[in-house]
Amino acid sequence: MANRHQAFGGNYGKHREFSWGSDGTTFDRAGDMLATAHTTVLLGMNAQPVRVEVESFRGVPKFELVGLPEASVRESYVRVRSALNQLGLNIGQQRLVVNLAPADLRKPGSAFDLAIASAALAALGHVNRESLHDTLLLGELSLHGAVRPVRGVLPQLMAARNNGMRHAIVPAGNGREASAVDGIDVKVADTLHDVREHLRGQSPLPSPQAVVFAPSFDERLDLIDVKGQPGARRALEIAAAGGHHLLMIGPPGGGKTMLARRLPSIMPPLTYSEALEVTAIHSVAGLLPSDSGLVTIRPFRAPHHTVSDAGLVGGGAPPRPGEVSLAHQGVLFLDELAEFRRSAIEALRQPLEDGQLTIARAKERATYPARPMLVAAVNPCPCGYAGDSSGRCQCGEHRIHAYRAKLSGPLLDRIDLHVHVPPVDVTFLRERPCGESSATVRARVMAARAIQARRLETGQVESRCNGALSSRELDAVALPDAQGMKLLIAAAERLGLSARAYGKILRLARTIADLESSPDVRSVHIAEAIQGRVLDRGPVLG
Ligand SMILES: Nc1ncnc2c1ncn2[C@@H]1O[C@H](COP(=O)(O)OP(=O)(O)OP(=O)(O)O)[C@@H](O)[C@H]1O
Ligand SMILES: [Mg+2]
Repeated sequence: MANRHQAFGGNYGKHREFSWGSDGTTFDRAGDMLATAHTTVLLGMNAQPVRVEVESFRGVPKFELVGLPEASVRESYVRVRSALNQLGLNIGQQRLVVNLAPADLRKPGSAFDLAIASAALAALGHVNRESLHDTLLLGELSLHGAVRPVRGVLPQLMAARNNGMRHAIVPAGNGREASAVDGIDVKVADTLHDVREHLRGQSPLPSPQAVVFAPSFDERLDLIDVKGQPGARRALEIAAAGGHHLLMIGPPGGGKTMLARRLPSIMPPLTYSEALEVTAIHSVAGLLPSDSGLVTIRPFRAPHHTVSDAGLVGGGAPPRPGEVSLAHQGVLFLDELAEFRRSAIEALRQPLEDGQLTIARAKERATYPARPMLVAAVNPCPCGYAGDSSGRCQCGEHRIHAYRAKLSGPLLDRIDLHVHVPPVDVTFLRERPCGESSATVRARVMAARAIQARRLETGQVESRCNGALSSRELDAVALPDAQGMKLLIAAAERLGLSARAYGKILRLARTIADLESSPDVRSVHIAEAIQGRVLDRGPVLG
């Protein structure tokens, strides 16, 4: 038989302070035992370390859980007791105190189960306490002792690694996600039994299978399906090229929704670091399908207009990311913008401005990244046909006015590009596909993005995309040549443009110039940008 000390210690520690019992699985030290396991609790995208201390006492059987556990953690006892029972261990006959430290951190969720059960195993002498050293434990337990997947494994592993943790054991169902994290030795487990055998050094757990990251696109959504609509297609390309928010205005059936759904297909493929961010958010939200690796497609989120404020921007207790964060690095599509609650739309302003959303609670702050491209669609009036030459619009002036009043305002101020999507010409619909494919358009978008990336690298700007250029940055990189300036000043006077509209025109013109690889912003670029952004107050409707 192998040296028993070796078998218990595994690779984890050399320090021994036990005297081992005759059956090789329990120690016979008289007195009380304390064991510590390591886990984390999610706060927004950050994970805070939590120590699970389990102490076994002689005396009347009792289980106490202290350290600000929420109801979901208090239920842990039932699962842990049952799972340990499957291993032949009845903690109902023990006196155990479980302390979750630090005590002032609220602890929700079921992911502590594995750490509590492992610490209990150590406190009762069934595994060496040293085997829990430097090891992050994450996982919910079933009553039968299966280790079930949990939310937020990716950011929790990253945080643990950054805090110096060297080993981790996570549920097998989270293995593909976990394999994306390097710098920490990750093992995956299916059952508590396997975890115990691993901690005893008897049967090591496997490492997760490495997954190769390959960004992809949804092949079913290609721009080639959109017939006609040259103006809207061009707007979509400019929006993608410069990361500009986009508003589409038009009657029903013109293809607004169809166009919006195809925006991710002309954006550059996700980079590895973007994919890590997106995956982490979806993992924290519990939206990552079991056994999936990194997200490979840019997100497209289209919340219904009845969505709550918290659903849109994030919130709740415990806090969860909202649609604006789930769309991070992708597209947030607000179809039928006029139907959304005003409060929800107003709540979007701050995250869109800051690129992140912070939810402050009494003692805690949860922060989620929120940098999507916003695309909104509206009809020009409640029936959708205002301005239609057929005269079929039945909305009175008052109704149209009230409808448009809902749209003007702070959110639209942040949308650089407004485009009309007229009814599609039937002759176009009869034709075979004639427009460009997403891949063709994407190549131009990526070339324009590469120019923006160079400006960032060389320190000319701090914004990654033209859509985020500040007025100082615009002065540095987007001032038009003499002709362009003349045109801009003439337009500003004629249309009574505000400083904000002026900035939007310059941002768009910079992108239009980048799409042509033109170092200078010229009058043609300014002219096209003015078309895309005419009014100061609200969208150009009807
Ligand atoms: N330009 C187009 N090329 C091909 N098909 C189109 C086009 N425009 C619309 N369609 C067809 O019409 C359907 C409705 O289009 P879509 O839902 O995108 O219109 P919409 O502008 O969003 O309308 P609504 O204002 O009612 O939401 C599409 O699913 C598609 O089949
Ligand atoms: Mg639609």
